[in-house]
Amino acid sequence: MSNAFTADWLSLREELDHQARSAEFVSALDGQLRPDGPIIDLGAGHGSNLRYLAPRLGPARDWLLLDQDVKLLTEAGRDAPVQQLETRAVNLTRLPELELPRPVLVTASALIDLASADWLKGLAQRSSGWNVPLLIALSVDGRRGFLDPDGRHQNDATDELCRQAFNHHQTGAKGLGWGQALGPAAIEALERALQVHGFRVQRSAADWRIPAGSNRARTLGPVLLEDWYQAVADTDRLPAKALTDWLHNRGSALRMGQLGLMVGHQDLLALPPE
Ligand SMILES: C[S@@+](CC[C@H](N)C(=O)[O-])C[C@H]1O[C@@H](n2cnc3c(N)ncnc32)[C@H](O)[C@@H]1O
Repeated sequence: MSNAFTADWLSLREELDHQARSAEFVSALDGQLRPDGPIIDLGAGHGSNLRYLAPRLGPARDWLLLDQDVKLLTEAGRDAPVQQLETRAVNLTRLPELELPRPVLVTASALIDLASADWLKGLAQRSSGWNVPLLIALSVDGRRGFLDPDGRHQNDATDELCRQAFNHHQTGAKGLGWGQALGPAAIEALERALQVHGFRVQRSAADWRIPAGSNRARTLGPVLLEDWYQAVADTDRLPAKALTDWLHNRGSALRMGQLGLMVGHQDLLALPPE
């Protein structure tokens, strides 16, 4: 994906995201949230995280959605079952100095792999000042590849090279913080940064698993593969012919029901020091 996220792309992934997430982490927030103050959703996009969490955390909550993309934010709040909803267009690189109300929860989904190391430290510091829990969902962790019809991993040497090249591509500058994005290393960096401030941190796998032969493998599979291909092509790590052969072969296998796809993600729950 480029740095701009379209509503179409976010909609395409929404159901998969919701199925992958840790329901246990949401349950663990029971009794942990103060009644007053908003839930702040960082990089809210067009509201997928809100749509997942709002029914589970209950309607008597205020939400504050932050994103740089006004168009996405406009679509975010539609029909949200919440008490009060505010959206604000902001550049989150400035998170440390943004004027924000003290939240009851800081949350984000599919965001922090775009962030630089400094930004993650800033997020930990700001959350520590607020002394509130964080629920950070669906951060890519670098695992990705193909599944055979029995759901077993099936990466050959070229898949593995493409996986490594994709992960390298994820560490370009993505505009969230001042430096390079941490990509798959972000989740661990955030865990460490929060622990420095005494947070109790748990992580849980929240993988996309798209079974071979499923409708999704035939429709979403090739879209994800094309995105993967584009990223690898940008790195120049594979000869162009080998890469287009790979795209063609793997694309056919997805469409013909011979392969599925998995993309590794993790959810993170952090509770403030007692
Ligand atoms: C992958 S999308 C995830 C959107 C949503 N959380 C979801 O799960 O569908 C990442 C979002 O972060 C936003 N974003 C990225 N960098 C940002 C920045 N520096 N300031 C504000 N928003 C940013 C993008 O506009 C986009 O909406």
